[in-house]
Amino acid sequence: MAFRDMRAFLAHLETQGQLKKLSMPFKARRGDSELQALMRYVCDKEGPALILENCEGINTKGVPLVFNAFGTRERTAMTLGLNDWRAVKIRHAEILNDPSRWIEPKLVDRSQAPCKEVIIKPGDVAMDKQLPHVWFGKEGPSYLTNAITFSRDPETGTRNVGWYRFTQFLDATHPMGESYAPERAKTDLAAFYWWQPPMSDIGRHVFKAAQKGQRLPVAIACSAEPAIHVGAATGMIGDEAAFAGGLRGEAIEMVKCETNDLEVPATSEYVLEGEVVFEEAETIGWHSNPVGYYDRAQRFPIVRINCITHRKNPMWYATMEMVPPFDHNYLALLPVEAEVFADLRRKIPEVRDVACTPNATYIVQLSIDGAQKPHPEFGKYILHAVWGSAGRWGRTAKLVIVVGPDVDPYDLKQVEWAIATRWQPVKDSIINPSGQAFVLDPSCEKSPQFGAFRSEQLGIDATIKIPERFTEYPEVSNAAPEDVAAIAKKLHGIV
Ligand SMILES: Cc1cc2nc3c(=O)[nH]c(=O)nc-3n(C[C@H](O)[C@H](O)[C@H](O)COP(=O)(O)O)c2cc1C
Repeated sequence: MAFRDMRAFLAHLETQGQLKKLSMPFKARRGDSELQALMRYVCDKEGPALILENCEGINTKGVPLVFNAFGTRERTAMTLGLNDWRAVKIRHAEILNDPSRWIEPKLVDRSQAPCKEVIIKPGDVAMDKQLPHVWFGKEGPSYLTNAITFSRDPETGTRNVGWYRFTQFLDATHPMGESYAPERAKTDLAAFYWWQPPMSDIGRHVFKAAQKGQRLPVAIACSAEPAIHVGAATGMIGDEAAFAGGLRGEAIEMVKCETNDLEVPATSEYVLEGEVVFEEAETIGWHSNPVGYYDRAQRFPIVRINCITHRKNPMWYATMEMVPPFDHNYLALLPVEAEVFADLRRKIPEVRDVACTPNATYIVQLSIDGAQKPHPEFGKYILHAVWGSAGRWGRTAKLVIVVGPDVDPYDLKQVEWAIATRWQPVKDSIINPSGQAFVLDPSCEKSPQFGAFRSEQLGIDATIKIPERFTEYPEVSNAAPEDVAAIAKKLHGIV
């Protein structure tokens, strides 16, 4: 199913009983932490998506706040019109591996583009008044977390679409006690574009433009239709807009920007047009990160916005990263799992599934085990394959566990049971001393951009060690699922 825009997706959630509108007040000002508490509360109980109609202290009164839209695996699956997470992940991985299923975006006229209903021209941009600023916890600046960046490679002209955060400067505090120039609050954002390892595609574009002495034009679409958000969160070679068309089964409608040659989804709630001013990087912090800590200081390039377009009566999606699970955790995990799964499936048909927990432990399920394995060290071969997989996730996987077909990789009780009964710590593990770090892991050494770059990695082979250590293994003592279902039926309404 293809949703025309974020509004249609939210309407679908509502019909499924997965969205509630709240008119009671919530505090969203700097120094308040009510929204972080709300995030903890709803995410811990797998609660619904919310529309907060009355955010106190928001600078754009009347703009409703979309909250926790992707806070469960099921709601994230719904972005592509299905309820089943595994089905969506497999669909994502298959389409990723098959560019013939991608659908090129369709260019529409400006008159058909809702995102052009209001146009704030160059010279009139004042983001401190025109763009919502929402605080969740103790973060120094407020963040844009609904924003996907469109850019073109300065050498090849190929498009990149990526979901990266930005900080705003209205009421922002500087992590070193310095102050930001007041104009920054009107026109500037600090962009989480990593240009040192592990890099992002936008980091490469920025770097190439800077080497040519150019400023990179960018267009930032906020709250667009959901498939392009999934595409933007996917690390891939090729055009994420065409890939997202394949995911939703219909071309994404795009429209030309006002001030540069880029194109953006026509139904976006807001579009910010501008350029990366690489020479004006700023140090920002505190930033609440997805591994559950506040980064004290990070250094990012400035994006200068020279034009804003938006829909009439726009809405704003904002979200916070904190100790997992949090709202967009799952939206980020869908492409992570699918990317690693797609890569492994291209070369190892025995890989049946890949699950990634909200804390980024990777569990690879095989379709074979024991003596069926092609060779005794097959489990360890899988560990190496994960670390050698394409993109930034597999190679930064700090903890990887390989299990057989009888272990559900999404059920951590089963995974722990396999480790407890099929694994010996010395013989069945690999400690890789020179892996690549997940950039925000606080336990690793830091790069000059304040990100982590090298990490040790642990791989656990929890497959059954036949034939290498045993000729047979004890039979599993457990009830058959159909027998449990029969008992459940028998005891229905009694126990
Ligand atoms: C809500 C959300 C926010 C994200 N923020 C960032 C970010 O600030 N910087 C970053 O490098 N990746 C971020 N990611 C992950 C990237 O979107 C993802 O790795 C994507 O593949 C990057 O695109 P690229 O591979 O074209 O660079 C975020 C993902 C989500 C879902």
